[in-house]
Amino acid sequence: MERILINRRELFATALAAALPGVLHAADQADVSRMTVLSPRPEDLEMPLDGFTEWITPIDRFFVRSHVYTPKVNLSEWGLKIDGVVGQPMTLTMGDLKMLPRVELVGVLECAGNGRSFYRPRIAGAQWAFGSVGNGRWAGVRLRDVLQKAGIKSSAKEILFDGADVPLGKMPDFQRTIPTAKALHPDTLLAYEMNGQTLPIQHGFPLRVITPGWASDSWVKWLQHIEVLDHEFEGFWMKSAYRHPTHPVPPGTAVDPSEMIPVTALNVKSVIAVPVGWAKPGPVRVQGTAWSNTSPVSKVDVSTDGGQTWKRAKLTGQQTRYGWRIWQHDWKAAEGSYALISRATNMAGQTQPLSEEWNPSGYLWNTAQPVAVTISAQAPSIAETPPAATETPYPDGYKTACFSCHDEHMMQQQRLSGAQWDREINKMTGWGAPVKAQDRAAILNYLSNRFKQ
Ligand code: HEC
Repeated sequence: MERILINRRELFATALAAALPGVLHAADQADVSRMTVLSPRPEDLEMPLDGFTEWITPIDRFFVRSHVYTPKVNLSEWGLKIDGVVGQPMTLTMGDLKMLPRVELVGVLECAGNGRSFYRPRIAGAQWAFGSVGNGRWAGVRLRDVLQKAGIKSSAKEILFDGADVPLGKMPDFQRTIPTAKALHPDTLLAYEMNGQTLPIQHGFPLRVITPGWASDSWVKWLQHIEVLDHEFEGFWMKSAYRHPTHPVPPGTAVDPSEMIPVTALNVKSVIAVPVGWAKPGPVRVQGTAWSNTSPVSKVDVSTDGGQTWKRAKLTGQQTRYGWRIWQHDWKAAEGSYALISRATNMAGQTQPLSEEWNPSGYLWNTAQPVAVTISAQAPSIAETPPAATETPYPDGYKTACFSCHDEHMMQQQRLSGAQWDREINKMTGWGAPVKAQDRAAILNYLSNRFKQ
């Protein structure tokens, strides 16, 4: 299919603002002034491109993805309940957990929907560009130690996680399972620390599941209940959401649910962090990060001519099994317009596709996609912000129906067809949006015209 050249001019201004010197301190929450806010409530915050130059992503730059509002958790009342097919159901306090061996690992946390905004045709959901990913240092206990303490039985099939977050309206509670084999892997943790600090509330205080190499839908936050199941879990977030096809499908096609499986391992991937949009002629250091699943990155190739020729980039910094690598490529750049591409490969031989592999919910985007860079002595003038679109008045009943759980940020980021908006209204009505029959057509018409493909 046709390749889309990512024009990062719009991202350019954000990156410049973000490059202003910040104060170095161990923050315990995202600095929203240096993040791209997709939705303020529930919080969906994206890390801009300049974050990809650091090996460990600081907490104030770390992306935040929330299905619902951040809960309040009082540690003195908190306990981790473990039940299901175990010999000895129990509830552990943080003190009990800290008696178990402490384990630390560096690992990439990436949202399954990272890169969704690049898919064509467009797909409903959080419209991430590059930055719903970060590299963290996680410390806690092995999930295996906790399960063995409770006497996990051999009939165990899946481990069900539930956090302290509360669903909005009639939406299904966010509950996820992982297979027993992943749960018993020595690198699967329950973390109480992130980057050497107490786990921040935005990242799941007091306890979060760490499934290294897997997408973050399995890294359940605010964990308070583990149920060991001897059967497959049927909940919405396993059976309807976070599923992708077992085989490539033509863009825009519906896929039979029987041909969909849960999202688990990440795809091998790389991002160009520098330059963004423009650089002066002469030596230019092209720089970025690359990461993978449970198989580490083995190499990154860089093209400055849209994929005609490739050069091996230098991997720098530390290598760990699940962390990302910083890479760089020194380029002698002459004036002109270029299409830069980076392409990572892992030790298992998996590599990034050169053209997009579309899937219905927009998961695990990892296309090695050209990005536009201008090499010129003078910075090209940044296009003036277009005049604000004329205000379209809200249709009757829209605010009452749609603004109670979140605001219009959720809708503004989408670019959907009328049929897709129709499905969104059905989904939200199912979750409890009070759409009056007489207002529905006008709301659909407004959304379909204002936020269209
Ligand atoms: C009962 C609470 C509630 C109401 C009312 C509500 N929404 Fe939502 N909506 C949510 C939640 C929660 C999310 C985030 C889901 C997630 O992150 O997975 C969401 C997400 C969305 C999204 C992002 C895509 C998606 O499916 O996740 C769109 C678009 C959206 N809502 C549109 C609407 C519209 C239009 C209305 C009014 C008809 C509406 N919402 C009313 C709870 C609500």
